[in-house]
Amino acid sequence: MKGIVLAGGLGTRLRPLTLITNKHLLPVYNKPMIVYPIETLRRAGVLEILVVCGREHAGHFINFLGSGREYGVKLSYAVQDKNNAGIADALSYSEDFADKGDIAVILGDNIFEDDFAHAVKAFKTGVSIFLKKVKDPGRYGVPVFDVTGKKIIKIEEKPRDPKSNYAQTGLYLFDNRIFSFIKKLKPSKRGELEMTDAINQYVRAGTVNFSLVKGRWYDTGTIDSLLEAALQMQKGDGSFNSK
Ligand code: G1P
Repeated sequence: MKGIVLAGGLGTRLRPLTLITNKHLLPVYNKPMIVYPIETLRRAGVLEILVVCGREHAGHFINFLGSGREYGVKLSYAVQDKNNAGIADALSYSEDFADKGDIAVILGDNIFEDDFAHAVKAFKTGVSIFLKKVKDPGRYGVPVFDVTGKKIIKIEEKPRDPKSNYAQTGLYLFDNRIFSFIKKLKPSKRGELEMTDAINQYVRAGTVNFSLVKGRWYDTGTIDSLLEAALQMQKGDGSFNSK
């Protein structure tokens, strides 16, 4: 399976830092943020990776990451024309790269402790999402379960009144239907094509699988979560291994 790192967006919650460069190139302790999701894909056995970034700082990504050889992966790049068009819009730029196959998609600001090699190997069809119990679900995409608590009925993006304590993390395994689902999307209230709306089409088709993230997980899109992740990385010298 090929991999895609989505590294677009304006990173408004990290201003003024994101006026200098793209959010995903900011440091999380001793490494730029984007190195962590690349490492997550590599650990999962996903070695052929497309980085989708906005046009403003596109050159910074290539300068820093190059061919990817240093990280044990093979990198290609795509530029998203409008950096405020949403995550699902960014993903649409990877259709040719995906070449009708399955894809592992990770958001460039997500740092995972877990190893997803098994999930990637076991993936068959539909979408696999990875949930983490959190204290502040309203910041994320939040699954709504049926009465059995075992089946997802839908996912709500940043709900005011979250129906569960789980966050949908920024790692997704998709079959190739994702691209036709994205084409059907309309911009959300915040004017973006939402990944959550694309995933809800899989939910309606009955082809969503979920599992729980066991280890630590950070979405480093805010100043506080960026600091928290950096302090965690300091303990392990750039990894989750606490000293
Ligand atoms: C995005 C997604 C959200 C998901 C989160 C995980 O939110 O829209 O569903 O829970 O990533 O990191 P964002 O951080 O872009 O606001």
